[in-house]
Amino acid sequence: MPDNIVTNDDLSKIMDTNDQWIQERTGIKERRWVKPGDGQSTFSMGLEAAKKAISNSGIKKEDLDLIVFATLSPDYYFPGPGVQVQEALEINTVAALDIRAQCSGFVYSISVADQFIKTGMYKNILVIGAENHSGGLERSTRGRNVTVIFGDGAGAAVLSRSEEDGKGILSSHLHSEGKYAKELALEGPSTSRWVPEIIAENNPDDESYFPYMNGQFVFKHAVVRFSEAIIEGLEANGLQKEDINMLIPHQANLRIAQFIQRKFQLSDDQVYNNIMKYGNTTAASVIIALTEAWEKGKINDGDLVVLAAFGSGFTWGSVMVRW
Ligand code: ACO
Repeated sequence: MPDNIVTNDDLSKIMDTNDQWIQERTGIKERRWVKPGDGQSTFSMGLEAAKKAISNSGIKKEDLDLIVFATLSPDYYFPGPGVQVQEALEINTVAALDIRAQCSGFVYSISVADQFIKTGMYKNILVIGAENHSGGLERSTRGRNVTVIFGDGAGAAVLSRSEEDGKGILSSHLHSEGKYAKELALEGPSTSRWVPEIIAENNPDDESYFPYMNGQFVFKHAVVRFSEAIIEGLEANGLQKEDINMLIPHQANLRIAQFIQRKFQLSDDQVYNNIMKYGNTTAASVIIALTEAWEKGKINDGDLVVLAAFGSGFTWGSVMVRW
């Protein structure tokens, strides 16, 4: 996580918002935003997380076979940050794949890595989720419904093949529904709205290069799709909600996570949330939360860990893990 903490009170100084509104609606108390000029970026945060993950995994970086990088905020329009990580790690010319599934990015990435491992093509895969939202957020009252939610950060994991029966990733379940693409989107710059066009128009009312979110619409879909993805994962493995030891939901909004917790009758110890500290870090949120939960000793050997996410696209999914 970047060091720079931005509290709700800090935001209320630059836009018409307040701590009470943000906490009541989202649970967020503060988030991390990189400081312009301090050299941090989606790639650099992802790289830092990757180095820690490689070190924790005990494998040598030279043994990595693939890099999967999930983000909606790459350093360059192209290429994606996966190749930057390959270069910075000073490893062989292994494949680098960028995943664009927004808040579901890490869940999608884990699933992709799992397929490469299970087919036998690769053995050790570095999976990264990282976002630098803050530079692209509208820091004024006009953008407040989106800006107060998002934070910067990164997380990473190394997935490796295990021969231990019944352990590891049991299954993953991915979905999308593109008819709602525009309900949570950033239109420009893009191939349909290139930079020269935006500059030529020079329109102060142009909001196309800031993220747009139809908040209530997204919220209603999120609670339904989160639940469906979790149930699908349980059913695929012949498991019940009582079998869940730890649910790591994408940190979109604490109210969404609390709704899911009630629906599945999980205790506070069975759901890990950290949106209060970090806001919504999109593709990074699931792996940051998973890492924190694990570091705090909240996940034990043999536990059923459920990862679930929903976001722009719409995309959603779940991953069932026997730890
Ligand atoms: N501070 C103060 N007031 C605000 C703010 C703010 N930051 N933002 C909006 N308001 C105002 C609105 O203008 C509106 O005022 P009005 O009633 O006078 O018109 C009022 O508060 C209510 O606005 P809503 O947008 O209806 O607020 P809502 O209760 O829906 O909460 C929120 C907004 C928190 C964004 C919620 O809709 C939400 O969490 N949605 C889901 C987000 C999500 O899950 N995203 C998916 C992942 S993100 C990804 O994939 C990139």
